[in-house]
Amino acid sequence: DKGNYRHFMAKEIHEQPEVLGHTLSRYIDLGNSRVKVPGAEAVDFSKLNRILISACGTAYLAGLVAKYWFEKYARLPVDIDIASEFRYRETPVAKGEFALFISQSGETADTLASLRYCKENGATIGAVVNVPESTIARESDVVFQTIAGPEIGVASTKAFTCQLAVLAALALHAGRQRGTVSEAQEKDLVAALGSIPGLAVQALKCETSIEALALPLSRVSNALYLGRGTNFPLALEGALKLKELSYIHAEGYAAGELKHGPIALIDENMPVFVIAPHDSIYEKTVSNMQEVAARGGRIVLITDQKGADASGNAAQNTVILPDVPEIAAPIIYALPVQMIAYHTAVFMGTDVDQPRNLAKSVTVE
Ligand code: F6R
Repeated sequence: DKGNYRHFMAKEIHEQPEVLGHTLSRYIDLGNSRVKVPGAEAVDFSKLNRILISACGTAYLAGLVAKYWFEKYARLPVDIDIASEFRYRETPVAKGEFALFISQSGETADTLASLRYCKENGATIGAVVNVPESTIARESDVVFQTIAGPEIGVASTKAFTCQLAVLAALALHAGRQRGTVSEAQEKDLVAALGSIPGLAVQALKCETSIEALALPLSRVSNALYLGRGTNFPLALEGALKLKELSYIHAEGYAAGELKHGPIALIDENMPVFVIAPHDSIYEKTVSNMQEVAARGGRIVLITDQKGADASGNAAQNTVILPDVPEIAAPIIYALPVQMIAYHTAVFMGTDVDQPRNLAKSVTVE
């Protein structure tokens, strides 16, 4: 049932404050300012030298954000790979390692094959899945469930942000166990995670400004997305969503990578989405943005009020989000990224919930 929405995707985008609340309440204890990850006893993070993560598509991009978190908060290196590459690469996996798989459906063939490979090699298997009775859930030693509810739209939205919520909690849990997150830090970070549902409500309010951008965007044939740090995976996610929903060719790049090639693409016809909250690396991203502006690129800056004030007049359009704590940013910034793709596709008249050539669950490789 789509309720009052035109598409399941719109409904699922708007459900995010609620399902993020459900998911977070399972993984954080706001009253005691602690993370609590049911099932995490299965893994001793203090003994690990690395984590392996493998997934496909948007779930892979959630894993890419998690790499930044595990490395920053738990000082734990992450080897992440696309499942279809991982499964055939003959990666050395040792007994006692921890391998984590991320999947909304829990049925993705390549992710499942990667899981089985790690299991055969003696790794402990963890899975972030949305469907608890799925094959990936059944074959895992420990399941970290996302409480996103059924996701009908083919493009993953609420499952992605709920995956991020679970992964953030897991990274902090690992950090606590490894002694790299102090009690005081944990308190602040848990409060930051607890603020996410409310911030998501506010972030959804930028929908009107996004709709206004989408009409001109629906007439272009290429677009770029740029971001640094955890906003780099979001740039990839923005490009993936735009491609799959509106069939506009789009690429995401790490902002610093621009001058190593893709800047040659910039001209006055190229829309460039820059994802840059006013955080510790904002200045770096803005200097990349200015390089784009100097070459005539049409910039849409997705930022907060401080970021907008500090951006000079390089951006043609600015989408302003609430101020967010750093750990919450990838979750909150996912919302405008999803809405850009959604509204562009609506203007183009494509089948938003069932884009051509795509299936919700990819059970063949
Ligand atoms: C993109 C999208 C896909 C899925 C991918 C993995 O919007 O939805 O890229 O994320 O097919 O699917 P799951 O998470 O079911 O393993």
